[in-house]
Amino acid sequence: MRKLAIEPQYAIEVKGLRKTFGKGENKVEAVRGVSLQVRKGEIFGFLGPNGAGKTTSLRMMVGLLNPSAGNVIILGKDPKEKQNQDFIKEKIGIIPQEVSLYLELTVEENLWFIANAYRVPSADAKVTIDKLISDMGLEEKRKALAKNLSGGMKRRLNLIMGLVHNPELVLCDEPTPGLDPQSRVVVWEYIQDLPKQGKTVILTTHFMEEADRLSDRVAIIDNGEVLVLDSPKALKKSVGEGDLVEFMLENTEKDHLEQIASALREFNGGKAIQEVYISSNRVIMRSKDVISNLSRILNHIEDQGAEVENMAIRNTTLEDVFISLTGRALRN
Ligand SMILES: Nc1ncnc2c1ncn2[C@@H]1O[C@H](COP(=O)(O)OP(=O)(O)OP(=O)(O)O)[C@@H](O)[C@H]1O
Ligand SMILES: [Mg+2]
Repeated sequence: MRKLAIEPQYAIEVKGLRKTFGKGENKVEAVRGVSLQVRKGEIFGFLGPNGAGKTTSLRMMVGLLNPSAGNVIILGKDPKEKQNQDFIKEKIGIIPQEVSLYLELTVEENLWFIANAYRVPSADAKVTIDKLISDMGLEEKRKALAKNLSGGMKRRLNLIMGLVHNPELVLCDEPTPGLDPQSRVVVWEYIQDLPKQGKTVILTTHFMEEADRLSDRVAIIDNGEVLVLDSPKALKKSVGEGDLVEFMLENTEKDHLEQIASALREFNGGKAIQEVYISSNRVIMRSKDVISNLSRILNHIEDQGAEVENMAIRNTTLEDVFISLTGRALRN
């Protein structure tokens, strides 16, 4: 009877992953017990501040770094076993955080170097390389030496270097620092398109907007631990429903701000406003129905003898989720 090959359910599974660097006084617990599964065909985001353990986790997840403890399974295979290593290497494309190019080679020579290293047949490599160069808007620079590219162009080339061998699993460590807003959108759209080509993407970022826009699911990581893991929508919903309204108040002392905040908590019997807190000189509130209550809320604030200097209504962000979990901002 023919044996059926069982397709692995997940692109990557990790269990109890830990990494400790150094000893004694220099000991750093970079990753402290991370367990998760990356589904095939999703964009999985790691969001966390500098030093949270994103790159270390990622490097262990692709077999580039040995864990101090825990297990990794990549496309159903254990990277510790020697016979799996070539298979894994071929299936994974790594886009490193530090731009890594052959500076004395041209743009297209850099890409051909990778194609040759992976033994991609030349006809396929040509088609792929032409497409990658065009997708990243680097046509005019294809004959330019990598060392003469601008910083943003180097980063765009760095991104496509990891895709020349058509990997099934793409790991992208901080894809957009240093890019101007337009290039950032080009890169975002490019990454968003990868699942349509049947690829799974793992992304790390400390930009909450990037994690929100791109990821199907996000793991928020801090101090080497995953604090929460869910879709951006569910994470934002978890901190409360409705929009946030920030009131900037003129010359208002802390005590007065507290007085205004408690008055808002009692507004309309506490029904219209879900949450009120103070941050520097602002009073921030969450309401499910801002628009219909707004003028009454403004009057209510003025009744407390305060003057609203400025006001902003905004949606909940992943930054609010991070603050609610840690009490700190993502970037401080
Ligand atoms: N090779 C190493 N030797 C010693 N410590 C290390 C090493 N690599 C990482 N670390 C430490 O581990 C912690 C996590 O680092 P990591 O690079 O994983 O963070 P990150 O979340 O990717 O941060 P960033 O957003 O700045 O890229 C940091 O405290 C870092 O200094
Ligand atoms: Mg990093």
